[in-house]
Order: sequence, then C-alpha cells, then structure tokens
Amino acid sequence: MSTFVNDDREMPRFQVNRSAMVDPEVFALERDKIFNHSWLYIGHETELPKKNDYKTRKVAGRPLVFARDATGTIQVWINSCPHRGAMLCREDSANARFLTCFYHGWSFSTAGEMVSMPGDDAYGEGFERPGLASPAKVDSYRGFVFVSFDPDIVDLKTYLAGATEYIDLVCDQSEQGMEILHGTHEYSIKANWKLLVENSMDGYHAVSTHQRYFEMVLAARGKLDPSALADSRGIDLGNGHAVIAGAPATEGLFGRPLSDAGAEERAARFDRFRELYGDGWVDRMMGNRNMVIFPNLVIIDLVMGVVVRKIDPISPDYMEVTAWELAPPEEGDELRKQRLDNFLTFWGPGGLASPDDVEALETCQTGYAAARELPWSDISRGMNKDINSTTDELQMRTWWRRWNELVTGERLPVETKAPLDEMFRAERRHRSTESTNA
Ligand code: FES
Ligand code: FE
Repeated sequence: MSTFVNDDREMPRFQVNRSAMVDPEVFALERDKIFNHSWLYIGHETELPKKNDYKTRKVAGRPLVFARDATGTIQVWINSCPHRGAMLCREDSANARFLTCFYHGWSFSTAGEMVSMPGDDAYGEGFERPGLASPAKVDSYRGFVFVSFDPDIVDLKTYLAGATEYIDLVCDQSEQGMEILHGTHEYSIKANWKLLVENSMDGYHAVSTHQRYFEMVLAARGKLDPSALADSRGIDLGNGHAVIAGAPATEGLFGRPLSDAGAEERAARFDRFRELYGDGWVDRMMGNRNMVIFPNLVIIDLVMGVVVRKIDPISPDYMEVTAWELAPPEEGDELRKQRLDNFLTFWGPGGLASPDDVEALETCQTGYAAARELPWSDISRGMNKDINSTTDELQMRTWWRRWNELVTGERLPVETKAPLDEMFRAERRHRSTESTNA
C-alpha cells in the first residue's frame, strides 16, 4: 500500500494520508515528480491581443514571460537575464518591442534574440551572444497555452486526453473564439494546494458550505431546485484529469440573473449552435461543468460564468490562486453585465462563495496539525456505485491516483463504472481544428 493513498476496493474505501498536506518532503517530491513533468497552464492567447504584448507569470516557481512576438507568435521566456540573472520584465503586463535588462542593459527582442549589449567591444570577436531561455516545451489547445519543463513529455493533446472534449464544450460557446476578460482575481489561501484541487470539483459541499449563496440565488430567481444536481456525473477523463458535469437541467441552478434581458440573445446564439453542432452536443454545452486538468488548472463553467483558475503551491500550507473569466466576445451588454456580476459575487475573493471555500480549506489545514493522531482523510463517496454523480468523489480519486502514481511510482487501477448515458456522450457534429481558438 502507498504511504499516501489507501485504495481499498473490497470495502470499498479510499483514504488520503494527511502527511501529504503538511510534509515539506512531500512538497519537494511534488515539485520534482509532478511540476517538472507535467504540462502546466501559463495563460490564454487572448490575453496578448497585440504584437509585442507580454505578461509576467510564475509557473512551478519559475518566473516566466508570456509574450506575443513581433510576428504574432506566442512565446514563453524565462524571466531572467542570461547575463547575470536579473529579472528582465518587472511589470505584470506591458507592450514592448525590446525586453531590456535594467541591470547592465542587455536587450532582447520579443522573439528572444539578443538585440544589443552595451560596450560589446569588451567581448571577444567569437563571443556567442546568448538569446533568452525558454521552457522545454510550449504548446496550446484552443487558446489555452501550456508549458512543460520536461523535454520528453508526451504532446499536449495526448496529455490532455479526455479533457479536450470538455475544453471544446466551453470553447464552442463563441462563434468568434472565447476570450479572457480584462482583470483577474488574485488571492491566497493558508492551506495545501491539493485542497483547492479537491474543492474545485466537489459537488458534495455545495449545499452545506454555500447555503447562504443558494438562499440569495433563490431570492433572486424565485425558484431553485438542487435535486437537478442528481442528474450529473463525475467522470474520469484520463491522465488524472476529471470533471463533474451537469445535465442541461442544471442550467438555472447558479448565478444571479440581474434581469431577463439578454435571455433572448443567448437563446438565439444557442439555436445557431444547434444547427452547427447538433442537438446532443449543444444540450451538453448548456449544462455546467467543473474540470481539473492535472495537476493545477481548473476550468469551471456554471453557465452564468466560466472561470479559469490556476493554483500555485507556495509551501505545504500556503497557495496562491489566480482566476480569470472566459467569455464569448460577441456577447451583448446585458449578458456581459450579468457575467461580470456573477464572476464577482460568486467567485470573487470577497464574493458570496469563495470566502466560504477558503474558510473550509483553512480549517482543514488547521486540523492537519493533528495528522499524527488522525492520519487519514476519506474520499470514498460513490465508490460503491456504478454511476457517480457530482456529489460523489470519483473525480477526486481519479486525480489522487495520478498524483500517487507520479509521487510514489505505484499505479492503482481505474474504477470501472457503467458507461455514460447519451446525455454525457453526445459528440459534436462538426469538429473544428483543435489548435485554433475559434
Ligand atoms: Fe542583465 Fe546584466 S544581469 S544585463
Ligand atoms: Fe465551493
């Protein structure tokens, strides 16, 4: 049995050892075995609309520059000068033809080539001028850009496995290509990063943790039927990725509709999608979904908003979180207003839901100080069932088994479940090319 995961198929029971949430050695192992060998999200292509736009980002502890060069190509550079290491770009975002180091003035193009070095006659004729360094791999799927520090990793699409289908369900919601809206939510949580991974696809906690939020939605909508959640599934997407997906009936469960205006526009857009993609696929699009792409990217589509969330482990008991809103650019003012309101009031760090989650996670972490006396957490829900719903925990077990495989080398078999019914299987009629954003 693994030190960290007890996957008992007989009882059945699935437990995770709390040492995985507190032990600095486990944290170091994760850095090496997981974050040095996965595809990691850096940002979305639409965050760099113009040539020579850049953003500075941290991925797996590395300072990076996420840029669009002068030819329009997406580039990722290590944000450290090849001279003696100073940070090249110190702004969160900017537009610049040259990335110039403030320390001694070495300057580079956004394509990573050296442009000038002051006093270069003091270097020999044959001196090889260094360019910028980059992560081993950079690739994108439908506008989502990932990097990997492992030169031997499988290609991004193979890595994403079944997650591509759920990215498609989100990205197909725009005729022009979904875009990241201006502005981010940035917050930190005094808890282990894996707790937010679990929480991001945990349907079980919704009613109890977010009772106040649902009361508010009930007051705003006049009706609310959480039993619709029963028509939902927890799904293993392969390679540690997992999703909880709601049927179209869950469409009206979340969000604060400020007014009915906009409903018609939205319905018309989805009618056009029906012609384009077929009913089965559009029915799936209209449901909601919380997906975790292993290890630390979350995409949550609750119809009233789509959140892209990047979780960064900082220490065993501390994480940083960045969240962006993804939206169809063609959306009218009213729908956009509602979307932004929901992005703030549901997901915002001072909203009506996220602070409750933060509180839950931080109290878990506090409890883990007694990990020696109470070593195991339980993630067994639904293990005895053939069909797993949103309120079961199959999706978390899926993620943990991949975590366990990478950290310990022990591969645990997947859970065999009943095949998904048509509502969760329907395919898109026309598949667009996977590497474009539109
Ligand atoms: Fe950048 Fe010297 S460290 S120019
Ligand atoms: Fe929550």
